[in-house]
Amino acid sequence: MPDNSRQTVGSHGSGGGDSSQGWAELAPGYEQSRAREDSLDRLVEWPAQRELFGDVAGRSVLDVGCGNGGKLAELVREGATGAVGIDISGNFLADRPPGLELIQADLSDLDSVPGLAGRQFDRILFLQSFGYAREPVRTLKAARELLTDDGFILLTRTQPIRYALERTEQNGTMLGEEYFSTAGYTYRSGWNDEVALTKRPYTISDLLNVFSAAGLWIETAAEPQLSEDDRRRYPHKQAWMDKYLGILIFKLRPLPTGPQTPLPGARHSS
Ligand SMILES: C[S@@+](CC[C@H](N)C(=O)[O-])C[C@H]1O[C@@H](n2cnc3c(N)ncnc32)[C@H](O)[C@@H]1O
Repeated sequence: MPDNSRQTVGSHGSGGGDSSQGWAELAPGYEQSRAREDSLDRLVEWPAQRELFGDVAGRSVLDVGCGNGGKLAELVREGATGAVGIDISGNFLADRPPGLELIQADLSDLDSVPGLAGRQFDRILFLQSFGYAREPVRTLKAARELLTDDGFILLTRTQPIRYALERTEQNGTMLGEEYFSTAGYTYRSGWNDEVALTKRPYTISDLLNVFSAAGLWIETAAEPQLSEDDRRRYPHKQAWMDKYLGILIFKLRPLPTGPQTPLPGARHSS
């Protein structure tokens, strides 16, 4: 599902994530909406995230901004080991499989969460949560430190064009004006319209520059869509996707650090 978040980097300034305030109240509405039969998380996002994630049997997993921990619980049932979820809301599943640890903590302080000290993970997830990092590069660098040598990060964000388009509709402006705007704005989420979140725009290049600055390279990027069957079954969801595009998914790996190490897939130039 779309995240209600923003960050400012690169051409948009010096950093600073979305306010996390409001999530304690939003969390139950978010989980209810995610659980609906026709939620885009169920139909598009989670299946695509799952596919890129691959076989989790015997893998340790850290889910950053894990919501109630439901996705992580599913991975534990599929054989993931040493599974830890952190979320600021503390709105966690009461019924958890053994091996699932859920910690109330701020992802902006990933490098100092006591339960994570000295640990490493094969897979780290930021599913629609990364926008809340106060210092996005610092948070990703901290995640990189928590990765095993052959581990990867799976990070998803809402297509920034979606938010820009919504603002053109509200403000009677042009897409480029909103997409390249640096002004924060207030957003009432569909999960609980009594909660307003403050957001800041970001562009695709902002995101790519953050990955680079954190020493990560993109192994795979995806923009998942509804299956043919689901397009027919849920035309209102297809209409939404036609207009607002959906989410971006990135599979990120640490760049080699030594000067002698060639980049994966790189060729020597003569
Ligand atoms: C859009 S929801 C995504 C939840 C889950 N990852 C999923 O894919 O269903 C965003 C989550 O980020 C969490 N969050 C927001 N700010 C946070 C912060 N500063 N630290 C940790 N979690 C945060 C919220 O509580 C919420 O659970």
